[in-house]
Amino acid sequence: MALTTGTSQALLDAQLELWHTTFAYVKSMALKCALNLRIADAIQLHGGGATLPQIIAKVTLHPSKIPCLRRLMHVLSVTGIFSIQQPADDGGEQVYGLTPVSQLLVGSSNLTPFMTLVLDSLVVSPFLDLGAWFQRELPGPSLFEMKHGQSMWDFINQNSAFCALVDGGMVSDSSFIMDIVIKERGDVFQGISSLVDVAGGLGGAAQAIAKAFPHVNCSVLDLPQVIASAPAITNVKYTAGDMFESIPSANAVFLKWVLHDWGDAECVKILKNCKKSIPPRDAGGKIIILDMVVGGGKSNLKHQETQALFDVHMMIMNGVERDEQGWKKIIFEAGFSDYKIMPILGVRSIIELYP
Ligand SMILES: C[S@@+](CC[C@H](N)C(=O)[O-])C[C@H]1O[C@@H](n2cnc3c(N)ncnc32)[C@H](O)[C@@H]1O
Repeated sequence: MALTTGTSQALLDAQLELWHTTFAYVKSMALKCALNLRIADAIQLHGGGATLPQIIAKVTLHPSKIPCLRRLMHVLSVTGIFSIQQPADDGGEQVYGLTPVSQLLVGSSNLTPFMTLVLDSLVVSPFLDLGAWFQRELPGPSLFEMKHGQSMWDFINQNSAFCALVDGGMVSDSSFIMDIVIKERGDVFQGISSLVDVAGGLGGAAQAIAKAFPHVNCSVLDLPQVIASAPAITNVKYTAGDMFESIPSANAVFLKWVLHDWGDAECVKILKNCKKSIPPRDAGGKIIILDMVVGGGKSNLKHQETQALFDVHMMIMNGVERDEQGWKKIIFEAGFSDYKIMPILGVRSIIELYP
């Protein structure tokens, strides 16, 4: 079919779509730059609204790049990270403000560490080889291993700076989402006297649960190199171990952003170990999972697109975002009798499993 079939407008609209997707990474890189330069903090320091000279006074950049910063702010504003208020008079300066999006990048429990992890060059660079990865047989090396010569877990184990980046990113996500979980569905923790957060990292989620439900005996299981950096706090107990070997006993097991890291066979192994560590259903035993159920929640385009992007992103470590069928497969294969999906966390869900 000749390229010129169709109206000129239809062709230009199609080209626009193509350009929009092709250049989408520039949007991510502009955000990464804003995080590096701490632009949101600079605006926050000015009470939530700042002109370019006021931002420049607070960030480190070479004076020759000032006009470039204006262009970067343009991208960040048209894409909704910051707002722009036009000057009242001709000679005035535009005022950049925080939007609900950039408000998530400032303050005490902000999401900057998680975004910094996802946009780190160690995480971004493997995706340049996605096409080559598709030509190799599974299981084979993950995208991360193809690029960096080691699985992500081995790399984390041997690189303390990257380990800190991962753990910090996870803690920031946990503080954010657990506030919402506790507010919206705190009932999932009712009636539990003990809970183990399996592969709980530095315990961001366990700490939030322990704070909201002081009667719940909370503990975290993670690998020794992670537990070595655990905070010294009294209301959460930290245990070094391997979830593929055994899991400490508790009323309930919590698994946040763990199963999407693994293929089905590994998930079944983890879930079987979880099942061994909890009492039967009539004694209150259950597994609480916080992860994505593709197709769950709202059905708008941004929601669907974000879930699809997350799924491909998990190829970095041969992980997967599962739809309900995918979840059902591993849940029943691990011997659970029933499950309940609560799609109340935006693109993520809470899933309860009953023995
Ligand atoms: C994506 S992070 C999730 C951390 C935490 N659940 C959260 O959402 O904040 C995955 C965690 O799995 C842990 N992990 C990986 N292999 C493990 C194993 N064999 N046993 C226990 N934890 C493991 C990692 O150290 C890491 O903390």
